[in-house]
Amino acid sequence: MRNRRAALAAMASAACLALSLSACGQNSEGGSKEKSGDVKGATIGIAMPTKSSERWISDGNNVVKDLQAKGYKTKLVFGEDDPDTQVSQIENLITQGVKGLIIAAIDNKSLNNVLQEAKDANIPVISYDRLILGTKNVDYYASFDNEKVGRLQASYIVDKLGLKEGKGPFNIELFAGSNDDNNTKYFFNGAMSVLKPYLDSKKLVVRSGQTQLNQVTTLRWDGATAQRRMDDILTSAYKSAKVDAVLSPYDGISIGVLSALKSDGYGSGSKPLPVITGQDAELASVKSIIAGQQTQTVYKDLRKLAQVASTMVDDMLKGKKPEVNDTKSYDNGAKVVPSYLLQPVSVDKSNYEEVLVKGGYYTDAQLKG
Ligand code: GAL
Repeated sequence: MRNRRAALAAMASAACLALSLSACGQNSEGGSKEKSGDVKGATIGIAMPTKSSERWISDGNNVVKDLQAKGYKTKLVFGEDDPDTQVSQIENLITQGVKGLIIAAIDNKSLNNVLQEAKDANIPVISYDRLILGTKNVDYYASFDNEKVGRLQASYIVDKLGLKEGKGPFNIELFAGSNDDNNTKYFFNGAMSVLKPYLDSKKLVVRSGQTQLNQVTTLRWDGATAQRRMDDILTSAYKSAKVDAVLSPYDGISIGVLSALKSDGYGSGSKPLPVITGQDAELASVKSIIAGQQTQTVYKDLRKLAQVASTMVDDMLKGKKPEVNDTKSYDNGAKVVPSYLLQPVSVDKSNYEEVLVKGGYYTDAQLKG
């Protein structure tokens, strides 16, 4: 019996020599053990910031789908907008043996230590939509032209108010995103580059006086926080005046701002709602646009973003150089991170059918339901 077992073992190991090493590893370990260079069936960790916004749920699902189609297994986690939770989730993913990481950071500066652990374990890291700062251990960045997002929002306000035709002055209030998200300053600076001439000429007036980025940020992009700030502004600066436009960087913030405006009587009688921008084309906001409340959003095709990020990680694991289209704009303080930036599109009532429905992003039934 003993001899027979030894003979079988010898035969098995001879067969192993004839097969690839990875096939032997998989046979003996029940299918999950990887040798370096063998990526089929490897697990990729995906860390998304929160489930509180529908977009990140779609992002997570899209990335999972794309990676599975490429033959990977996936582990998807959501950080509940808490930086410490996200750090420990990523630590766990590393401990569980993921071979690649795709991360949308909550606090872009909180990941340095955990990404050193990833580097030590030879795990490639893709920064997803939000650039991770202060560490060399970020390999690639997949996002959109973030400055253009801000320019699209501000240009929409300029056009809608007729500022180029000399109309005005108008009252505007400014909102920005979370101060721990690198995108925030890109959106804001992009928008301000368009608004500045009109602010300088006083065709646009910020009655609250809050025009600096650090006065207008919204921690964790929270709609309720934005609503409170808008409430305060309406009480303190608009007793005898009317808001004509609100620069909002994100749909969740727009919804909060709209609630404050409606509680103050906007949207009825002699107080029409101001022009109000947004970003992400979230379902609730597209419905709000159709209903004539929010005015505009910036659509970013998340299906394409997921494809870019999953192809980047796949290429890296296969020893291929991922495609990038920007090697200058995104300096994270430790290196310029090679990036692939997609194009955002401005959407309002006039083109949502064309862009979102014909583009297959939403069905008519979803939008009218
Ligand atoms: C940003 C992202 C925006 C928006 C925002 C809030 O990082 O670029 O599209 O989603 O977070 O979630």
